Amino acid sequence: MRCEMMILFSLNNHRIILEKQVITITLGYFVDQNELKQAVAQAAVDYVLEKIEPDSILGIGTGSTANCFIDLIASHKHKFLATVASSEGSAERLKGHGITVYELNAVSEVTVYVDGADEANPKLELVKGGGAALTREKIVTAVANEFVCIADESKWVEHLGKFPLPIEVIPMARSYVSRELVKLGGDPVWRENVVTDNGNLIIDVHNFHPIGSACALEEKINQITGVVTNGLFALKPADVMFLATQNGVVKYYPAP
Ligand code: 5RP
Repeated sequence: MRCEMMILFSLNNHRIILEKQVITITLGYFVDQNELKQAVAQAAVDYVLEKIEPDSILGIGTGSTANCFIDLIASHKHKFLATVASSEGSAERLKGHGITVYELNAVSEVTVYVDGADEANPKLELVKGGGAALTREKIVTAVANEFVCIADESKWVEHLGKFPLPIEVIPMARSYVSRELVKLGGDPVWRENVVTDNGNLIIDVHNFHPIGSACALEEKINQITGVVTNGLFALKPADVMFLATQNGVVKYYPAP
């Protein structure tokens, strides 16, 4: 695994950045989860700024970490053309900053997609969908030239599956899909009162942990009639990951 460490925390308005060094330091104080999200979002902004051109389209994910990224990239909005968003919520937040949001059908290329995750393993296979936006997230990922995942260290796991696996289903297929998921060894729970941006339902599947082959399970679940998307991002994992830890932001590439 290739791993670079970058220290990037805000201390009394002094930003400390030491790039491309493997360093472990104890900061001597506890950085809370929100500060970790801010730090990792800033690392992603710095990374993305090196990739984009004035005509670039940025793909923007969904969730609290993606929201930090949106708020930080806002001051650089003149450096790219527009964005595509993986949820109505993110689109609204982007527009609130005066950032142009295009429909995905209107663009032929997305330079880079930045999004969070609920779990990530060393292969950079992910579980996503905690915010019910998994289908649009997977679609934007498919289009993007590069998928940059950002998360705090609580999301880093050796084996996926402790976080219940979200599945988006067509409403009339909810019970059938649930029965099929039981046959695969899962314990499906309907996320009641949640309707996705696509008008569908979410089933969260418990007890898949530890997921052996995430690619095989992703494919199997995709075969169930009535499933729109499952929250495993293994067939197309992240290309790079920034992980915020108590010791700094670590950049990972997929382990073989
Ligand atoms: C939304 C997602 C999010 O990326 C995931 O839930 C992580 O969210 P957060 O950054 O709030 O922890 O997949 O569907």
